[in-house]
Amino acid sequence: MKGVKKDSSPQIVDATFVTEARELAHLPPEGPPETAIAGRSNVGKSTLLNRLAARRALARTSKTPGRTRGIVFYDLQAQFPDSPAGTRTALRLVDLPGYGYAQVSHDERRQWRTLVEGYVKRRAALRLFLVLVDARREVQPDEQELLEWLESLGVPHQLVITKVDKLSAAERGALTDRLRRAFAGKPPRTSLVSGETGEGVDHLWRVIARHCQGEGVPNGSPA
Ligand code: GTP
Ligand code: MG
Repeated sequence: MKGVKKDSSPQIVDATFVTEARELAHLPPEGPPETAIAGRSNVGKSTLLNRLAARRALARTSKTPGRTRGIVFYDLQAQFPDSPAGTRTALRLVDLPGYGYAQVSHDERRQWRTLVEGYVKRRAALRLFLVLVDARREVQPDEQELLEWLESLGVPHQLVITKVDKLSAAERGALTDRLRRAFAGKPPRTSLVSGETGEGVDHLWRVIARHCQGEGVPNGSPA
């Protein structure tokens, strides 16, 4: 693509687990700018997080959905290609618990909502909220509501279509139209990624950098 820098991915000098918070009282103190990763169980949140962190097993991934119940925080030290050598940017990636898992009870759903809504509303360090949707599934009403809610709060957000490696060429071609239909002609900003192959991760890093390298509008500030 013309005018688009090809390599935006930073070198991840350090990546560490901070904590898992199962209730709001246990959120860690505010620290580096945060990018939150949300989506249905099994959509590929932890796989994408590992890919962004350039680590194979920083976050636990699983074929059994619905394992992680808390909000998990990871700290990265990143050397961006456009920063002077030796300049490290501190960033935090936040793995949110999966939702929409069929076997989760009504109570657990309510808990998820309280936890995630509370986190989004009170977190000054939150700079970007990623809503992940599996490329082979339709965007669901609850995902649309989540995006609208983020918009209403002025929280910068991005739709991230995951597992694009599983699409045939024809399915890929139909994706843009499918999204346009799902959002009545006005899809939100969207990234296409594969945590498995790394496709689209460079683009996503560019989005994260834009929000977290000091130019982003802090959560809760007027737009
Ligand atoms: P929960 O933590 O249970 O909510 O799931 P999650 O959203 O963190 O999903 P996770 O990253 O654990 O991935 C779920 C399954 O999907 C695993 O078997 C992954 O290997 C697979 N997977 C994740 N991302 C991709 C992808 O981009 N392509 C393909 N083909 N498989 C993927
Ligand atoms: Mg996970």
